[in-house]
This record gives sequence, structure tokens and C-alpha cells, in this order.
Amino acid sequence: MRRETDRLVRSWLNQNAWVIRRRDDVRLIGMAALTPVSAATAQYQPGLVDGIEFVIALGEPDWGWGAAIEAGQAVMTYGFDGMNLSRIVAVADLPNTRSHLLLKRLDFEPRQESDGPKYRMRGYEALRRSGT
Ligand SMILES: CC(C)(COP(=O)(O)OP(=O)(O)OC[C@H]1O[C@@H](n2cnc3c(N)ncnc32)[C@H](O)[C@@H]1OP(=O)(O)O)[C@@H](O)C(=O)NCCC(=O)NCCS
Repeated sequence: MRRETDRLVRSWLNQNAWVIRRRDDVRLIGMAALTPVSAATAQYQPGLVDGIEFVIALGEPDWGWGAAIEAGQAVMTYGFDGMNLSRIVAVADLPNTRSHLLLKRLDFEPRQESDGPKYRMRGYEALRRSGT
């Protein structure tokens, strides 16, 4: 994400979300957020209660070239260093292969698996590294 997008990003902070766009194009291609784990998620993943959850979604035309990993790394750095979080959690439905690959690239560790509203789901946890 470019510095020039900061104003736009800040305008989204009240909604707890960042917008994602290409460097060379103003169109939005996705969003990312750090948000309290919802009651609905906690119902299936009690280990994540009271956690701050990383969520991200890109429009399908922009899958596969690394936008999510770049945006995700920026969000995780902000969470640990800017918000001083010690732990960030995430969930993904088991069939969402791309989500699991992304979360592993962002250094999330798999935790509990559980039934979800539609599919089995896996909870993840990323901990702030000591000394950072
Ligand atoms: C999850 C989601 C954001 C992942 O998007 P993505 O584009 O697959 O993720 P990445 O940015 O990590 O990109 C991975 C691909 O880019 C490639 N890539 C990574 N860095 C790259 C770079 N610098 N240059 C070129 N390619 C790169 C990887 O090799 C990989 O390629 P592949 O698809 O051929 O295996 C997307 O699938 C999505 O929006 N899904 C729906 C919502 C969802 O499930 N969200 C998850 C909830 S946490």
C-alpha cells in the first residue's frame, strides 16, 4: 500500500477497514481489517473469544499476484507495532486453500478446527515476536 493512500485509508479506519489498491490504479481491489472476533465466530471457535481478528478479501481478478500478502504484511505490522497487539487471530473455512496459504505466509499458526456455519473451519493465531 502506498503512502499516498494514507488519507483514504484513514477515512476507513472508523469502519475498522483498510482499502487495498494497485500502485498504478485508483480502483479498489479489496479490503483488510483488524476487528474484534464476532460472537458468531466465537460460537464456533471458542478459543478465539476476545481476540482481534485479521480479515482480508480481494476481488477475484486480483488473486494470484501477491496483493494479499503485501497488504496482509502491512496490516500485521500495524497490528503488532502500531496497535501494540500481542496476538492476532484468523479463521478460514477448510476448502479455502488460498486463505490457508496466505495465513501461513503471514506466520499464522493453525489452532483449533471446528464445524462452521457451512464448512469445517480452522482457527489461527499469530503472536508478536519477542523483541519486536
Ligand atoms: C484469501 C485471498 C485474499 C488470497 O489472495 P491471493 O491472491 O491468493 O494471495 P497472495 O497475495 O498471497 O497471492 C498468492 C499468489 O501470488 C503469488 N505471489 C506472491 N508474491 C508475489 C510477487 N511478489 N509477485 C508475483 N507473484 C507473487 C504467489 O506465488 C501465489 O501464486 P499462485 O496463486 O500461483 O500460487 C483471496 O483468495 C480472497 O480474497 N479470498 C476470499 C476471501 C477470503 O477467503 N479471505 C480470507 C479470510 S482471512
